[in-house]
Amino acid sequence: TTQYNYILTSRPEPAVTLITLNRPKALNALSSPLFAELNEALREADNDDSVSAIVLTGSERAFAAGADIKEMKDKEYADVYKNRFLEDWADMTRIRKPIIAAVSGFALGGGCELALMCDIILASPTAKFGQPEINLGVIPGGGGSQRLTKVIGKSRTMEMVLTGRMVSAQEAAQWGLVSRVVAEGEGEVVKEAISVAKEIGDRSQIAVQAGKEVVNAGKPLPFNFMATGRIFHGLFATKDQKEGMSAFAQKRKANFVNA
Ligand code: CAA
Repeated sequence: TTQYNYILTSRPEPAVTLITLNRPKALNALSSPLFAELNEALREADNDDSVSAIVLTGSERAFAAGADIKEMKDKEYADVYKNRFLEDWADMTRIRKPIIAAVSGFALGGGCELALMCDIILASPTAKFGQPEINLGVIPGGGGSQRLTKVIGKSRTMEMVLTGRMVSAQEAAQWGLVSRVVAEGEGEVVKEAISVAKEIGDRSQIAVQAGKEVVNAGKPLPFNFMATGRIFHGLFATKDQKEGMSAFAQKRKANFVNA
């Protein structure tokens, strides 16, 4: 198996791959190298006939606090457009085996979008979901605006995307953003996700993959994903994106000039 720097992989059950995001000091901020490793590990599990389902998790404090703001803050429109910034994130939507997100702590921005690209989301009572990009002078860039609208509806999505408000695990469950909130306690949500993955593993793997395929086929995204990505890219030509992300890195309040 491949050696990774920003994620950990293990086999807690013979038929289950556990992928743990592992940049604890940065609250698992999703840097480009981290995401490349994640996609590689997912492909590896998808291609391994002995794996039935995949569990994706972070730390107790953070599933993932978003795309890496420090990596992004100085990027210009030309860079993000030319290099198709974040476009490879959607690679994981082509994985055929079920991916179960076990979310504790912050799932913000790209972290919330990452959870939404998984097939089942289980939440610890400590989970907090949000799309705080608006505070950085940008918008969700990983398809979250479209996926959230499908899952929780327009009004709630607008509130999340336009105010950046964080949503508790309970509220997320009421809204159908997660399938359920598990009991509290360290490691509980991962344990529960592994147990669901194991249960899936006891079924016919052909039928399981077909099940995932038809559920996804029934709800195509209403708007071309890369079209939203292009609008996200366009914001890298604004002063407010530079100000918003620099302010975060410098731990001060952003002073937006609407330009
Ligand atoms: N990118 C880079 N670094 C991050 C980060 C991120 N998204 N989130 C947290 N960190 C870093 C912090 O800079 C800090 O680093 P230092 O110790 O070197 O200063 C470390 O992680 C710990 O974070 P805090 O000290 O801020 O911890 P806190 O408990 O005070 O606050 C938090 C936690 C509320 C989650 C806060 O860290 C935060 O607001 N993070 C950013 C959330 C965010 O805006 N996410 C959206 C990113 S944009 C995006 O995702 C675009 C997209 O659509 C794909």
